[in-house]
Amino acid sequence: MHCIRHVTEDLIWIGGNDRQHPLFESTHPVPRGMSFNSYLLLDEKTVLFDTVDRAVQTQFFENLEHVLGGRKLDYVFVHHMEPDHAATLGDVMLRHPEATIVCNGKILNMIRQFHCTDPKEVHLVNEGDTITTGRHTFTFVNAPMVHWPEVMVSYDSTDKILFSADAFGTFGALNGVLFADEVNFDRDWLDDARRYYTNIVGKYGPQVQALLKKAAGLDIQMICPLHGPVWRKDLGYIVDKYAKWAAYEPEVQGVLIAFASVYGGTETAANILACRLAELGIPVEMYDVSVTHYSYVLSDAFKYSHIVFASTTYNNGIFVSMENLLHDIAHHALRNRKVALIQNGSWAPASGKLMGEILSGMKGMEILEAPVTLKSTLAPGQDAELEALAKVLAASVKGEEIVEEAPAPQDKPKGFVCKICGFVYESDTLPDDFICPICRRPASDFEPLA
Ligand code: FEO
Repeated sequence: MHCIRHVTEDLIWIGGNDRQHPLFESTHPVPRGMSFNSYLLLDEKTVLFDTVDRAVQTQFFENLEHVLGGRKLDYVFVHHMEPDHAATLGDVMLRHPEATIVCNGKILNMIRQFHCTDPKEVHLVNEGDTITTGRHTFTFVNAPMVHWPEVMVSYDSTDKILFSADAFGTFGALNGVLFADEVNFDRDWLDDARRYYTNIVGKYGPQVQALLKKAAGLDIQMICPLHGPVWRKDLGYIVDKYAKWAAYEPEVQGVLIAFASVYGGTETAANILACRLAELGIPVEMYDVSVTHYSYVLSDAFKYSHIVFASTTYNNGIFVSMENLLHDIAHHALRNRKVALIQNGSWAPASGKLMGEILSGMKGMEILEAPVTLKSTLAPGQDAELEALAKVLAASVKGEEIVEEAPAPQDKPKGFVCKICGFVYESDTLPDDFICPICRRPASDFEPLA
């Protein structure tokens, strides 16, 4: 049974929604499912705009044959060869050998790679070429690396529709809706749109900016992406979001705290820092990166202006979930964030230095302070370091100068901490023959409290 929606009178959405596969691209969780959009135009000629993922092929072919209603398929415009859109192209070519495949040279090469065959009929297009199908005229525009090198988009100058391939897509199945104005997009969809953008094309900000620049020269009244809802109202909203994301500009002046903690010491420090920031009126988001998929953390790293990475030391390195996150953020080319670090290590803290090394390889990452260092847990009095860090972060978020406050002498804790186990002996002096009551180490293994 067919399941379709009209985009316009003669343009019909014939895609499908998948809610069975937990991961998109075998990587990104999609708990709200995923839509794979395909469109069919019924002009004097019929035009299919891309195909779909195998996950929804049964619904797609039911839709395609129903909407064609026995008409021949004249054209298939192939904008992108990633198999979430082109896996069923081979089947379309078998069912409709009469159809002319419209694509660029790179797409043709990928058709050969993925489907091990040449289309019977091919019409190669270059940048700016046009095809008229009756009432409609389409212009083709290359969009390399949004998201693969072969990608192109097409523009219907008759109804002023941009067929944008992956651009302006989002995670999430379309639950009966088709248009972004049928949902509360900002409340219910923006987070998934950002997570989709940052994880799928976030690395290619300059190429997305190039596409936006080309699109700015067109009178676009509607955007038909290959994932997520169609945009027919308030296009400036989503175009502005894309412009920000592509330029690596934060949407929110606030702090993302990403922490990796094994026994809770690092987590407690992160929580205390979050409290101090919240008290200063700073928006805060927090993730335990060992339990939250990195795609969510990456997305919020694009969203927030400041990031705190807090990690324990593990095997003389960064804890694995934090190391993976940092490499993922680096691979997605995030830049221009202000950063602070918290490191933990019970005998040889090293994660701060190592996290700093990864960040130093990224553009425009400014580390605000030397890392706050924990040895197992916060030592007595060390919460003052977190309070000071919160003030530095808050001032930076607000764009203020930080005024150093000399701590009152009576505020400074007096005592000595065992370098081995962290036991604190509270006194002005430490007897020479003192023995740690916890680990039995001598006074020489103690140091004054910082
Ligand atoms: Fe939705 Fe790059 O494929």
